[in-house]
Amino acid sequence: MGLYTLLVTLLCTVVLPVLLFLAAVKLWEVLVVRGTDPGCGSPLPPGTMGLPFIGETLQLILQRRKFLRMKRQKYGFIYKTHLFGNPTVRVMGADNVRQILLGEHKLVAVQWPASVRTILGSDTLSNVHGSQHRNKKKAVMKAFSRDALEHYIPVIQEEVRSAVQDWMQRVPCVLVYPHMKRLMFRIAMRILLGFEPDQIKTDERALVEAFEEMIKNLFSLPIDVPFSGLYRGLKARNFIHAKIEENITKKIQDGDNENEPKHKDALQLLIENSRKTGEPLSMQAMKESATELLFGGHETTASTATSLVMFLGLNPEVVQRIRDELKEKDVSGMHSPGKALNMELLEQLKYTGCVIKETLRINPPVPGGFRVALKTFELNGYQIPKGWNVIYSICDTHDVADVFPNKEEFQPERFMAKGLEDSSRFNYIPFGGGSRMCVGKEFAKVLLKIFLVELVQQCNWTLLNGPPTMKTGPTVYPVDNLPTKFSPYVSN
Ligand code: HEM
Repeated sequence: MGLYTLLVTLLCTVVLPVLLFLAAVKLWEVLVVRGTDPGCGSPLPPGTMGLPFIGETLQLILQRRKFLRMKRQKYGFIYKTHLFGNPTVRVMGADNVRQILLGEHKLVAVQWPASVRTILGSDTLSNVHGSQHRNKKKAVMKAFSRDALEHYIPVIQEEVRSAVQDWMQRVPCVLVYPHMKRLMFRIAMRILLGFEPDQIKTDERALVEAFEEMIKNLFSLPIDVPFSGLYRGLKARNFIHAKIEENITKKIQDGDNENEPKHKDALQLLIENSRKTGEPLSMQAMKESATELLFGGHETTASTATSLVMFLGLNPEVVQRIRDELKEKDVSGMHSPGKALNMELLEQLKYTGCVIKETLRINPPVPGGFRVALKTFELNGYQIPKGWNVIYSICDTHDVADVFPNKEEFQPERFMAKGLEDSSRFNYIPFGGGSRMCVGKEFAKVLLKIFLVELVQQCNWTLLNGPPTMKTGPTVYPVDNLPTKFSPYVSN
């Protein structure tokens, strides 16, 4: 009797729930792959669909790099999974990624997860399509023309210079990543939205923290209930919108009293463009565009600048080579006379440019891009069903590229080699590609070059914890925030 009771209890409490769970997982898998096209002869990519409804989203959020590496090792360069509420195919490797990036509007269309669309808004550049996308992009691109970039140089130099001066005073150390976010945020506010330094000061910290909260919850399950990721992301977004609205209103009022400015910021160009096309921008659309530009403009550059401090801190010989290049090109420093920075001089700093390229190769701040299949198509022998999400992976594509020997090593000079630029097309995609190529690419490159010039001319630095563990969230960042001691550099 006792054994019988024990067996029944075991059956009810362990075996039955396990069987039910396995049946639910199997049923879920069958339900999800029901949408495949029987007319297409190719099989679905390998992979698993995870748990009912949540798929493998939690594993991705909690384990990121480990999860992605494990999947790649198990299933190869194309595999199916279920993320952020959708059946998804992850794609990597130059040849596969080329087809996705060049297939925009034909095979696929950009489609960020529902949580990103809800938080950032459907009127943003990264969420609009067709002629609306083309017109909007053309307008924003004007803010990053060569002429416009030339005007930004003194503003960027002034902000970086004063930040680096401040870091050298700080004891016992500087947590580089949060400081970098504040620096890049100030630069983005001034250049992209045209705000004056004193307008930014009051709300800077609160806004950066709200951005952090928004970004942390950008990729969540699309469930808006108290304490869910989406709920917290929207709360932070509403705070940012309220602050931006105050500033836009003030800017419009001030703008009525002022003469034509020297250069137009990205937001102004968007407003002008909407007037020209007869589609006036609502305050909501302005807030969404401003939030998107601030997000794209500060988080990515802060992540890359932090990686630069890290890689250069670990490779002092690279710092020396940058200093040699600056000396050879006679670039002026804070305490040394020489040529003032301008676009022509920045373009001559080839080695410095390679240091940025190599940093973006190893630690691309945007790990990948989201698309949706517009029709069922074949990719490398696998079926990609209509309506499924497709994520092209930037970090995995860099990881598996054969054109980069000793790929674990930080070797900026690899980009000095002639021909690498062509052979690395689609093997090297930190800014994406095709019609969705990053709109802020040239701005980011100028900003990061000026950052390096100021940094190596003014200071030496030591990473207090040695090489950090990097974490991939919406962007890549050091888990310990990179505690670093900065001290003045005196050239001999
Ligand atoms: C190191 C810096 C940066 C990196 C690595 C980077 C990376 C990327 C990537 C990979 C994409 C393409 C995503 C896709 O294929 O869907 C993209 C798009 C975009 N980026 Fe950047 N970005 C950087 C800086 C910036 C800056 C400074 C801005 C703002 C001014 C910006 C604004 C945007 C916008 C608005 C898009 C959407 C473009 C479109 O849909 O046509 N990014 N970025």
